[in-house]
Amino acid sequence: MSEQSPVKQQGDALENLLHERRSFPPSADFAAGAVAQQSVYDEAAAEGPEFWARQARSLLTWDEDFTETLDWSDAPFAKWFGGGKLNAAYNALDRHVEAGRGDRVAIYFEGEPGDTRTYTYAQLTEEVKKAANAFESLGVSKGDRVAVYLPMIPEAVITMLACARIGAVHSVVFGGFSADALRNRIDDAEAKLVVTADGSYRRGKPTALKPAVDESLAKEGHTVTSVLVVRRNGEPVEWTEGRDIWWEDAVGSASAEHTAVGHDSEHPLFILYTSGTTGKPKGILHTTGGYLAQTAFTHLNTFDLKPETDVYWCTADIGWVTGHSYVTYAPLVNGATQLIYEGTPDTPHQGRWWELVEKYKVSILYTAPTAIRTCMKWGRDIPGKFNLDSIRVLGSVGEPINPEAWMWYRTVIGANGNQKEIPAPIVDTWWQTETGAHMIAPMPGVTATKPGSAQVAVPGISIDVVDEMGESVPNGSGGFLVIKEPWPAMLRGIWGDPERFKATYWSRFDNMYFAGDGAKKDEDGDIWLLGRVDDVMNVSGHRLSTTEIESALVSHPSVAEAAVVGAADETTGEAVVAFVILRGSAKDDDDIVATLRNHVGREIGPIAKPRHILVVPELPKTRSGKIMRRLLKDVAEGREAGDSSTLADNTVMQQIAESMRS
Ligand code: WT7
Repeated sequence: MSEQSPVKQQGDALENLLHERRSFPPSADFAAGAVAQQSVYDEAAAEGPEFWARQARSLLTWDEDFTETLDWSDAPFAKWFGGGKLNAAYNALDRHVEAGRGDRVAIYFEGEPGDTRTYTYAQLTEEVKKAANAFESLGVSKGDRVAVYLPMIPEAVITMLACARIGAVHSVVFGGFSADALRNRIDDAEAKLVVTADGSYRRGKPTALKPAVDESLAKEGHTVTSVLVVRRNGEPVEWTEGRDIWWEDAVGSASAEHTAVGHDSEHPLFILYTSGTTGKPKGILHTTGGYLAQTAFTHLNTFDLKPETDVYWCTADIGWVTGHSYVTYAPLVNGATQLIYEGTPDTPHQGRWWELVEKYKVSILYTAPTAIRTCMKWGRDIPGKFNLDSIRVLGSVGEPINPEAWMWYRTVIGANGNQKEIPAPIVDTWWQTETGAHMIAPMPGVTATKPGSAQVAVPGISIDVVDEMGESVPNGSGGFLVIKEPWPAMLRGIWGDPERFKATYWSRFDNMYFAGDGAKKDEDGDIWLLGRVDDVMNVSGHRLSTTEIESALVSHPSVAEAAVVGAADETTGEAVVAFVILRGSAKDDDDIVATLRNHVGREIGPIAKPRHILVVPELPKTRSGKIMRRLLKDVAEGREAGDSSTLADNTVMQQIAESMRS
C-alpha cells in the first residue's frame, strides 16, 4: 500500500476530471429500442441475488436447474447456482444450432496478411466437437489443465471451448509472455497439454511461438505429455517425437460427434494468471455458471446487443480476461456474430481497423483507451477515409479513459467523423481479471454518460468508494473502490493458494472486496476511476507488477538492486521506468541498459521491457527499508522530487539527481 491517499496521489488526474462537466443523455431513439431499460435497475434493486438467478435461467440452458442461488456461508469463497449443471460449450454452440440458428455467422476471421475464414455456428460447433474428441484421445479429461499459447486465430476460441466442453480447465498464456513465464504458469497449474502454433503474423512478418514452448519444456520436471501445434504461418519448427502433434492431424481426423455433458455450476472453467503486488503471478480461478451468467448479461445489456443484426468486434487478445469473457464466452453464449482480427492496427496501413469496420459493417466496437490514443496520434484523416456508419455502440476497457480520448472516440469513430447527428453512445466498462465481467458501466439506453466516467454499478452489483476506515465517502470525495456483495462472475480463489486470496482482496476492509483501484464519486454520485493504488502498473491496458519486474532485474548478475515505477505516458497510460544499482564489477554503459531490457524480455516477456533504465548510485528508502517509489516516480516524470523527509538517508535524491546529470 502506498503511503499516500489515492486522491492525493492522483492529484493531477483528479483536478482535470473535476473540470469535466459534459454529460450526454441517450437519444430518444436509442433509449426506446434499448435492451436495458430503467426497469432492469429497479428489478435488480428489488430482487437481490434472485435477480441473478433469473438472468442465469433466462440467458443459459441448464441440464439440471440449480437449487440454491448463492451460498456465502464460507465467505469469501462463494458458490453460485448450487445443484445446477450446465455445459459452457453447449451454451455457446450446440443450443444455437438446435434452435435453427446454425447458419448464423459466429466468427468472421481476418488474418493480418488478409486471409479470411468464416465460421457459422454449425461449423464452429463441429470444430469444437472434433477438438474435444482429439483432446480426450490425448488423455485429457475432466479437471485436467490445458495451457493455451496461441495467437488470435479461431483455433484459440475452439481450444478454449473444447476444454470447457470436456470439463478441462484452460490456462491461456498471452503470446507476448516469454518461455520462462510460460513454464512458470505450466508448472503452477500442472498442465498436461499445451496447445500452440508454429507462430503468427505481426507487422507483416511471421513471428514464432513454438520455439518458446520448446524452450520452456526443455528442462525436465514438468507435467506436459503432449503439445498440439496449429499450423498458422508455415515457418519451420523443431519437433519432439512422441510429444508434438500437428493440430490438423489430431483434430482433422477426429470424429465430429461429441455429446456435451453438464458440469456442476461451480466446476472450474479456467485459470488466468495476472500480476499482483508480489513477484509471483496469481492464477485467478473462474468457474462455470455464475461466470457465464454475468458475462452474458453484461454483454447483452452494456453493449445493447441485438444478436440477429449486430456485428460485434472486441479487439482484445484471448491472452487477457477481456478476450475470455467478451470474445470466447459471452458473444457466443448470446448467439452474436463477431469479428476476430489477428494482427496489429497499423499493418499494412494505419487505417486497417477502420477498413475492417467498413468491410464487416461492425456495429459494436470494444477496445482500449491506449488504442484510441494511438489512433488520435495518427490523425483523424485516417479513420476519415472509411465509412464507419455501421457503428452504434462503442466500448472502452482496461484503464481510465481521459476526456480528450473519449470525445475523439465519440466524434471521429462514433459519429463517423462528425457526419452523424447522433453519435454512438460510449460505454466505459470497469472490471478486472478477478471480477470476470463488467462491474461498473453505463447502460447505453438509460445512463447519461460523462467523458471519462465509468458511471454506475451494473444492475445487481454493489459498488462503493470508501475511506481508509472503510466508511463510504460522500459525493464529491475520493477513496478506495470496493465491492460490497458477492457477484456471480467473481473469482473463486487463487489457484492453489486460498490464503493469498483472502490476504490480497479481503483483508484490507472487513467484508468487502478491495479492488486495488482509487476512485471518486462526483456530485451526482457517478464513479470516476483514478488508477491503481498498489504496486501494479497499467501499460497499454496490460497489468504489470513493479515487484515482478524488479525481481527479473535483480536476477541478472550485474544488478545489485532495482526499483520500478510506472511513469505517466500520453499514449500507453503508464510506461515502465526502472532504477538500478549495479554490482561493483558491472560497467555503466549503453550495453548494460540494452542487456537488462532484453533480460526482462526473456524473464517475463517483451511487454514488460522497461522503457527507460536509469543506473543510480542509491535508491530512496524509508527507515524500515521500503523503497519510496513515489519519489522515483517524480524523477521518472521529470518533476522536482516531493517530500523526502522520511528517507533514511536524505541525500539520496540529490545523489540520484547528480547521477542523472552526469
Ligand atoms: C485493472 C484490471 C478489465 C479487463 C482488462 C484489464 C484497470 C480496467 C478500467 C476502466 C479504469 C480500468 C483497473 C483494474 N481498469 N478497466 N474502464 N477504467 N480503469 O483487466 O488486467 O485484470 O486489470 O485495470 O485498474 O483494476 P486486468
